Amino acid sequence: MARRAAVLVTRRVFPEVLARLTPHFDVEHNAEDQPWSPDALRARLAGKAAAFITPTDRLDAAALAAAGPQLQVVANMAVGVNHIDIGACDRAGVVVTHTPGVLTEATADLGWALLMAAARRVTESERCVRAGQWRGWAVDQFLGLDVHGQTLGILGMGQIGQAVARRGAHGFGMRVLYHNRKPLPAEQEAACGARWVTKAELLAQADHLVLVLPYSAETHHCIGAAELAAMKPTASLINLARGGIVDDAALARALSRGQLAAAALDVFEGEPNVHPDLLTCDRAVLTPHIGSATRTARLAMAHLTADNLLAVLAGQPALTPAGQWHRPQHAEPAA
Ligand code: DGY
Repeated sequence: MARRAAVLVTRRVFPEVLARLTPHFDVEHNAEDQPWSPDALRARLAGKAAAFITPTDRLDAAALAAAGPQLQVVANMAVGVNHIDIGACDRAGVVVTHTPGVLTEATADLGWALLMAAARRVTESERCVRAGQWRGWAVDQFLGLDVHGQTLGILGMGQIGQAVARRGAHGFGMRVLYHNRKPLPAEQEAACGARWVTKAELLAQADHLVLVLPYSAETHHCIGAAELAAMKPTASLINLARGGIVDDAALARALSRGQLAAAALDVFEGEPNVHPDLLTCDRAVLTPHIGSATRTARLAMAHLTADNLLAVLAGQPALTPAGQWHRPQHAEPAA
């Protein structure tokens, strides 16, 4: 009898998704709630035909070399692929897949939750209530920022950026400006009620600036001290994309000096660690990388990851290879 292919699943996943793999393959999976260390990941990759991975696994050239020549596919349960050395995978003939589309709306929803929370001081005022410090209604208590009718800025206008824009233009009557390397086709701009501007114009004009661009060497710290200084002191900044796009230390400084009114971050440089200066900023809303974390979206992401893995191991084309979206993805690099 032919030996079954070996498949690695690096994190705990939904049982119904695992159950699609176990009848066909020898599946080794991480049932613990913590990612494996780089050494443990390398050791477990050896001899595997497929790896079902998540953003907490670094698939670099060393990991790929440790996997060996049997590896055919790295199926990534995320749209962002900045943790994967795609060039090394290409050279080794390993297909890389990701999960665009299925998380777009859920992630855009979270973008709006963050924007609203930062603008209207939701988490800060809730902390006051929970701490027993609320002494009753007052005229100037927790005055926040208007959202309706303001200018929404979006840096990185891929699928998620467009979904954030639609909500702003059609739900909150906002003027929506965006910056990407290239403007969208006119009909796509019209659908999300958005207009292309330069990055400098975007920084200067946005009342609420949402970041939805991929992380790469090119976009590292593309929002740093200079960019923060170019924003309105009454503006808010929302990072829905990846840690490292914002210089978190510079952001904490800008908030504490009143150069920026508010911020909300779902992703951090070096996460799960968070810059200590951000932890003490009252006007920063901090969430633990939950952009796509609804059951529907995460289940769809896991199924799409399994679909890709099954297709490649059956000798068929991947459904959503990372390359088709001009890797890496979330949107085109906009910096
Ligand atoms: C993604 O898809 O890249 C998200 O960050 C994972 O939740």
